[in-house]
Amino acid sequence: MATPAELALERTDLTRHQLDHLKRLMATWGVLADLSFSDLLLLASVTESEPHARESGPSFVVLGQMRPSNSATVVQSDLVGQSVGGVDWPLVTAAFQSGEMSRGEMQIDFAEEPLRVQCIPVRMEGETVAVMVRLATGSGRRPGHLERTYRDVFDRFAIMLTQSAFPFPGESLAAEEAPRVGDGIVLVDEEGRVRYASPNATNALHRMGIYSQLEGRRLSDLGLQESAIEWSLASALPVVEEVERRPDVTVLMHCIPLLETGSVTGGLVLLRDVTDVRRLDRLLLSKDAAIREVHHRVKNNLQTISALLRLQARRLDGKGRLALFEAERRVRSIAVVHEILSRDPSDQVPFDEIVTSLVQMAKDSVLQSRQIVFHVTGKLGEVSADVATPLAVVLAELLQNAVEHAFADGAGDPGTHHISVAMRSSARCLTIEVRDDGVGLPDGFDINDTESLGLSIVRDLVRSQLEGTISMDRAPFPLGGGEHSASGTAVTIELPAVDPGRPTR
Ligand SMILES: Nc1ncnc2c1ncn2[C@@H]1O[C@H](COP(=O)(O)OP(=O)(O)OP(=O)(O)O)[C@@H](O)[C@H]1O
Ligand SMILES: [Mg+2]
Repeated sequence: MATPAELALERTDLTRHQLDHLKRLMATWGVLADLSFSDLLLLASVTESEPHARESGPSFVVLGQMRPSNSATVVQSDLVGQSVGGVDWPLVTAAFQSGEMSRGEMQIDFAEEPLRVQCIPVRMEGETVAVMVRLATGSGRRPGHLERTYRDVFDRFAIMLTQSAFPFPGESLAAEEAPRVGDGIVLVDEEGRVRYASPNATNALHRMGIYSQLEGRRLSDLGLQESAIEWSLASALPVVEEVERRPDVTVLMHCIPLLETGSVTGGLVLLRDVTDVRRLDRLLLSKDAAIREVHHRVKNNLQTISALLRLQARRLDGKGRLALFEAERRVRSIAVVHEILSRDPSDQVPFDEIVTSLVQMAKDSVLQSRQIVFHVTGKLGEVSADVATPLAVVLAELLQNAVEHAFADGAGDPGTHHISVAMRSSARCLTIEVRDDGVGLPDGFDINDTESLGLSIVRDLVRSQLEGTISMDRAPFPLGGGEHSASGTAVTIELPAVDPGRPTR
């Protein structure tokens, strides 16, 4: 669905080029709202083809609205997308038609008292494309030094807007990164010497170890290793630089040159202490590394357990020996999942890699005298980590059963034997099929009745943990060219696909 701002744009005749210019303005105009302690509106003229548009002169639509972050707003409502009659707002019409700034007082329906209004034509390549309206209440008290300085800077930006010199071409900072005036500003002259530093800017500089008197001096002369100001004044373009001072303070500097009829007359430097943001970035990185490390250790521990079980198994005979070897194999199939998670500790695990490792494990357990070819087809893609672990155990059991029982005592077709794993994933479910061309299941076999350990584990994991279904049947194995083996077993597992938006099980 289109937003009010998008609908508003459709009602104008603005070209792509002009639109980009206005979007760049709206990406940085928070600074302008703060410098003027005012609400700002951006108005564009409504297309002439709109019915009744021009009956009583031009009418406008509000493209954007910005509130100051350092003073009270005078516009409580959201005006984006609303129409504004040119007759009701004669100052806007005047600025739009003449290309000159207009000022005055106005009673507007959404404000309680009359507002002081300044209309600044936003021009591009000499043509007026929109009008930026500044709305403020008339305050009776005399403005202080800070306020006067901010207003002066705003006026310089206002002139730049009318001279097609602001906003600047090119990419602007992302809105959440861009410093606002409240973060701290330093005003410099055309040679980069400090004319004014706001209290928060002074604090930020103190944190960077700069305590000297600032006025009249260049920040680079005060020991701040920065080149943003110099670059920005020389190129007449904004420059962003992150200055790291001692390992624990990082300040983002955004230097915007101030121009008058094409020449640089100074610069506005916005400073934002991003130390905490960068520290969180680093923490997130180290948290990732920590999770990876944990998976790595879990994998190592599981491998140690499986080695211990193997050692113990060798000391036993008969059933005990077999049982321990089985347990050892099960532990190893879980280690496979942690091995993969230790490389990429996300919630999603590439299951196809796990399948490759499990098939290798099964191959390793095949007796030398047997010829078994493993076929893997299809893909499951990424699977959530808590599905991957039980599913890996299930698949390891099924592969092991095929290796152990299907071709027992040379049963099945003579010569080469086959075991296949086929995977499919759709929006609704994940399917894994494990087949072999061996002897087939014993007579009267029913997976629901088996009490042997391997299939009990499989059944429980699939049904309770994975919330899926399992079937196990005798089925001839397709050998290609329409031929089938005389016997064989097919195990099919279906799991509901987890919607990525839903919390994992
Ligand atoms: N692919 C297969 N081909 C033929 N028979 C199979 C196959 N898979 C399972 N079976 C039969 O099902 C039985 C039960 O399997 P299950 O995995 O539960 O136990 P197991 O493999 O004998 O012992 P373990 O508990 O060590 O896995 C097997 O003993 C075997 O007879
Ligand atoms: Mg088994």
